[in-house]
Amino acid sequence: MRILFASSEAHPLIKTGGLADVSGSLPVALAALGHDVRLVLPAYAAVTRGRHWRKVGELDIPGQRQPVGLLQGKLPGTPLPVWLVDAPLYFDRTGDPYRAPDGHDWQDNHLRFGLFSRAIAALAQGDGPNDWRPEILHCNDWQTGLAPALLAEQPDRPATVFTIHNLAYQGLFPLTALAELNLAGKLWNPEGLEFYGQLSFIKGGLAYADRINTVSPSYAREIRTPQFGYGLEGLLNHRSHILSGILNGIDTDVWNPRTDAHISQPYDPLDRPAKGHNRAALRAEFGLDDTHPGPLFGHIGRLVEQKGADLIVAALEPLLTDGRVQAVVLGSGEKRFEQTLERLAARFPQRLGVRIGYDEGLAHQIEAGADAFLMPSRFEPCGLNQMYSLRYGTLPVVRRTGGLADTVVDATSETLAAGTANGFAFDAASAMELGVALERVVDTWTHPQIWNALMAAGIAQDFSWERSAKQYIAMYESLL
Ligand code: ADP
Ligand code: GLC
Repeated sequence: MRILFASSEAHPLIKTGGLADVSGSLPVALAALGHDVRLVLPAYAAVTRGRHWRKVGELDIPGQRQPVGLLQGKLPGTPLPVWLVDAPLYFDRTGDPYRAPDGHDWQDNHLRFGLFSRAIAALAQGDGPNDWRPEILHCNDWQTGLAPALLAEQPDRPATVFTIHNLAYQGLFPLTALAELNLAGKLWNPEGLEFYGQLSFIKGGLAYADRINTVSPSYAREIRTPQFGYGLEGLLNHRSHILSGILNGIDTDVWNPRTDAHISQPYDPLDRPAKGHNRAALRAEFGLDDTHPGPLFGHIGRLVEQKGADLIVAALEPLLTDGRVQAVVLGSGEKRFEQTLERLAARFPQRLGVRIGYDEGLAHQIEAGADAFLMPSRFEPCGLNQMYSLRYGTLPVVRRTGGLADTVVDATSETLAAGTANGFAFDAASAMELGVALERVVDTWTHPQIWNALMAAGIAQDFSWERSAKQYIAMYESLL
């Protein structure tokens, strides 16, 4: 099968979150199953700088004064061909793919990702080198959402798949964007790109793709309800016959405690002393007391409402105050969350370490050195860190939602007896319920046999991309 995979980020070229992990792994796993896969990304400055990319063609995009260049190379460390859409006016900028250095969205995001979507649609119709034409176009998130809409009525188009990684980000723009983007008037209706008077990029995928999926079975159900659907639940229910959930995998080479080059001592995740060595290194990194007897919690993530940083602060405070736990947090995002975390760390320098920023190596050290990992997300389409944690023998403490509900089995007497328990899960997005879960973690910490059983169950799980890739192939096949 010829598959064009379109995304606005892919690890290790450019990453702001889990979308990059998926886009850097799933296409490789699809290719490993014997398919002809190409990945297409925007040619951001961060991607082109210092790497060799070959110009292989130009794309004629309606409404663009200059032809748009097409660069070709490989995803580093893999044989996967990558195309870059080279439009310097839009992509040759330093900083984040979506936000200007001042933290606000780039003013022209509709033009940037409108152009990207048009380039994807052109490639999907064979305008790339050697007349290569995909049979499947797989788009991801709002940045690629207009492509299925642009292709919908083309006679000679590939089948289109749209994956929702996060319904909270929809690519909404004022009505004026419609004209600026030169979009056909007939796309503008409530069954099309219109969303209560605004132009919605994500609706291009949701309304026009041949198949819609999201990154866990639970989130596929949740987004059909008002609580998680953000006004799109009606459309998603209407199209529920083509909507499904496929759990993400993880890159088991990059996230392998036995070979991880970022950590102080690669280890067998069941070897408690070796894991303890990584804990000591992590405490040293953050200047925490190395004789503390309690469990060390870790958290890594975007510091936004979704991830529940406020719940972490509120639930940890009493346990830090009476000295029963330690914790380390790595993340960046909203200033209010960054500041409360830093203030709390200043009060408990021996017990809480906070690092504001993005640090790939430190993320690995936290997964290796922490005893338990906090993910009290208000919603979580899939979530990757809980799967990294399970692989690293670090017990996840999660809110039962989305992919967290699909991967973490709460420790109860029944699940322990069945051997399925692998962590701790709670229901309400409240500091109180998280606090109760933390108490249970602290209590379980004093029962090493149970703790070991939880670790063993997590380590035994299969989160390889091959499993997910096979489900995607089955989905593509059903479309041909
Ligand atoms: P989301 O995509 O919603 O941010 P995921 O759990 O799917 O959440 O993926 C987040 C990814 O980004 C993980 O690989 C995580 O380790 C990484 N990550 C998030 N914040 C940081 C950070 N500050 N430093 C290093 N890695 C981070
Ligand atoms: C999104 C979601 C996250 C998911 C990731 C990759 O950013 O917030 O839950 O794991 O996409 O699919």
